[in-house]
Amino acid sequence: MKNLLFIFFCPLIFLYAQQEKKVEDMLFQLTNEEKITMCHAQSKFTSPGVPRLGIPELSMSDGPHGIRPEINWDDWGYANWTNDYVTAFPALTCLAATFNPDLSMDYGISIGEEARYRKKDILLGPGVNIYRTPLNGRNFEYMGEDPYLASELVVPYVKGVQKNGVAACVKHYALNNQEQWRGHINVEVSDRALHEIYLPAFKAAVKQGNAWAIMGSYNKFRGQHCCHNDLLLNKILKKSWGFDGVVISDWGGVHNTDEAIHNGLDIEMGTPSDRSHSKRYPYNSNFLGNPFLKKIIEGDVEESILDDKVRRILRLMMRTSLNKDRPFGSINSKQHYETAYKIASEGVVLLKNAENFLPLDKSKQIKIAIIGENAEKSMSVGGGSSELKPDKEISPLFGIKKEFKNAVIKYAKGYSSNPDEDHDDLRKEALTIVKESDVVLFIGGLNKNNFQDSEANDRKNYQLPYGQPKLINEISKHNKNIAVILISGNAVKTDWKTNVKSILQTWYLGSEAGNAIASILSGEINPSGKLPFTFPESLTDNGAHYFGKLSYPGDGESQYYKEDILVGYRWHDTKNIKPSFSFGHGLSYTSFELTDINSNKKNYSTNETIKISCNVKNTGEFEGKEVVQVYIGKVKSKVNRAKKELRGFKKVFVKVNKSEKTEIEIPVKNLAYYNEIESDWEIEKGDYIIYVGNASNNILDKIIITIT
Ligand code: BGC
Repeated sequence: MKNLLFIFFCPLIFLYAQQEKKVEDMLFQLTNEEKITMCHAQSKFTSPGVPRLGIPELSMSDGPHGIRPEINWDDWGYANWTNDYVTAFPALTCLAATFNPDLSMDYGISIGEEARYRKKDILLGPGVNIYRTPLNGRNFEYMGEDPYLASELVVPYVKGVQKNGVAACVKHYALNNQEQWRGHINVEVSDRALHEIYLPAFKAAVKQGNAWAIMGSYNKFRGQHCCHNDLLLNKILKKSWGFDGVVISDWGGVHNTDEAIHNGLDIEMGTPSDRSHSKRYPYNSNFLGNPFLKKIIEGDVEESILDDKVRRILRLMMRTSLNKDRPFGSINSKQHYETAYKIASEGVVLLKNAENFLPLDKSKQIKIAIIGENAEKSMSVGGGSSELKPDKEISPLFGIKKEFKNAVIKYAKGYSSNPDEDHDDLRKEALTIVKESDVVLFIGGLNKNNFQDSEANDRKNYQLPYGQPKLINEISKHNKNIAVILISGNAVKTDWKTNVKSILQTWYLGSEAGNAIASILSGEINPSGKLPFTFPESLTDNGAHYFGKLSYPGDGESQYYKEDILVGYRWHDTKNIKPSFSFGHGLSYTSFELTDINSNKKNYSTNETIKISCNVKNTGEFEGKEVVQVYIGKVKSKVNRAKKELRGFKKVFVKVNKSEKTEIEIPVKNLAYYNEIESDWEIEKGDYIIYVGNASNNILDKIIITIT
């Protein structure tokens, strides 16, 4: 075994040493002025190289669902290019809902290819901030409320992107869990919640995914802005995790030269340029521009600090822009659309399906009423920096019409996000077609407008907007056969849910949205998505909101994460608060039985691995995929613990009447909690309960094990 490891790692160590030597050679040739220019922007999305030595500039782009349209060199206007139409991949909430790391790898490879084709060296994504409140306007860009799930999905995404010689820039590090006051809010959170909930996905991206870049967030943590936060960047990221890549600021997230120099930032982006300062070099006025240079010249800052930043930037260049062997990439390929479709259709979550209302038989001549603005609204545009210019975007209306060729389909908007429209007329028109139809598909939810699922602001409340709940309830009085198709990146209040037969949570699905939704409705694809976050009944049932304003959104200056480690389902489970829909929940058109649930042993030492085996039998009429989920809780802990936490999962495909045996491995060290007194991880000895099921609220068996 040791020999094998040696044979595997030896060439890697050799290549790393070669790369480092080139980095040192380049560093040696640079003047301090040249080094300084590399530490800040030269345009909205590039940082300079060194023309004299042929060192190319670095080109960056958002992220994280596709490659953003080109923006002007020095202002936020669109460049209006015609070659920047791209594939819109499903939002990361959808990817998380697939519970399928293989699809995350496909996602990373495909988006990396598009980035490469568009000549980008750094992709500003993925985002892994934990879903703390359903009001956060950017939850749709992240991977849900569970640190283990997000960690399992971020690693393949990062690796996939970087296979293309494009750096993934994992964002927003850290604790950027709301948009309101994001530029200045100071987050106060315990060490335990920090290490157990908010950091693991970043840590996995760095330690397992080998991410080459990370983006500091806008907010403050313990009084210091995260783009130059000593604890987060120097002590945790660079020292403890051994990050050898580049820390890039969020755009305009730098506020102070001394902190930026000393607290771990490497490239400053988004600070405005100043043409009165210099026409040729207007970004030299940035915090890490001339003020930094002055301190170096005057001997106030050691050159080794500058060299460390530049060494990291050159290393990233060796991995990207200076890597002669990287592939050329591709864009809008058939394969990219296939990937987008697969992720979209595997991420859709069937929340409710009374009387097996879905799927609808597409061979029949049924009359379908489609109601709702989201049936035809593009969701790839808008929403902030994750906006896209899709080469193709199939709307749900178009997709359903294509899939249900035998049906008579009528469409009415029913409500509108535009206040100028006559809402009463829209409502009446909808009710007319509802009354004469066999089936109603209500396609609503949120959208990418301000104060919805959109950057820079949070949602104002938990309700579905634009009078949708009232409309759904009214429709149900005239037609009982309703399926609600929710398009959103966030949980919404579903107090209308008993009035409808089915509910699908379909996310922002990108280019293939309409095709994926139609395939699910017709049963062409059997839904297999699981919720990556909880749908509380009401906002105050959510842990962050339970503690009032100081917890969310804060007092304008600071906020205190008072629910501590009990985020999402951890809160609901531990406090016994029943949500509308639980984390991990997701129905199928078939039925599965989970049997023979066993652990390989009952007693484990701390360096062993727990193996949970389980048999998944498809007892229904459709082939399909089920996600076996393993949660673990400590019996009688010396510290506060969640009742149970996700520690393993596996998605299994099973044909009708067949069984598949599956095994899930959980290293005992993963059960450690963060000991705040020791500032280290500790594995508590004693009994643990292993809960195995197909949702956090559907546990089918429990096993007690002991750690000795
Ligand atoms: C966002 C980042 C984004 C950057 C560049 C910021 O406002 O927070 O996520 O990458 O802009 O567009």
